[in-house]
Amino acid sequence: MKAVYPGSFDPITYGHLDIINRALKIFDELWVVIMVNPRKKPIFTAQERMEMISQLVGDKKNVHVDYHEGLLVDYLRKQGIKVVIRGLRALTDFQYELEMAIANKHLCHELETVFLMTDERYSFLSSGLVREVAAMGGDVSMWVPPNVVEALKKMKLNAVI
Ligand code: PNS
Repeated sequence: MKAVYPGSFDPITYGHLDIINRALKIFDELWVVIMVNPRKKPIFTAQERMEMISQLVGDKKNVHVDYHEGLLVDYLRKQGIKVVIRGLRALTDFQYELEMAIANKHLCHELETVFLMTDERYSFLSSGLVREVAAMGGDVSMWVPPNVVEALKKMKLNAVI
């Protein structure tokens, strides 16, 4: 069975990679899709985020990396996929995730959202936290893979938050 794991991934963290690995225990094929979250202004371009993720999952033949600018449901219909994966870290994620899952269900009755729990080691971790700490010169190497650490270092620090 196929599934889509959508997100901003700005940048991808070990928490996201944990969700990818968990999803692959359940689903045969996974599309990691960078999408536009109108509530967020990304620091990395879609191309940069795609490259970073591809470098990390490139060895997995059943993982595809893609970018989509419109509605998630339109992407699912185009690909003929009916399952959306989302990671849940803590109770604070729940309201936002519930709203998205219900809205998506209204827009496309055939889809199901499957929530996977993030490993407790990453239950506090978010891309925003990584951006903030990196912007102020902190070490983020325990939260993101080396290629992401390097990409963050190359960013102008005052433009990162
Ligand atoms: O990693 P994020 O920012 O929490 O991911 C949110 C994302 C990008 C999956 C969400 O904003 C989204 O689905 N964007 C695409 C537009 C869309 O379909 N919006 C309706 C969802 S309620």
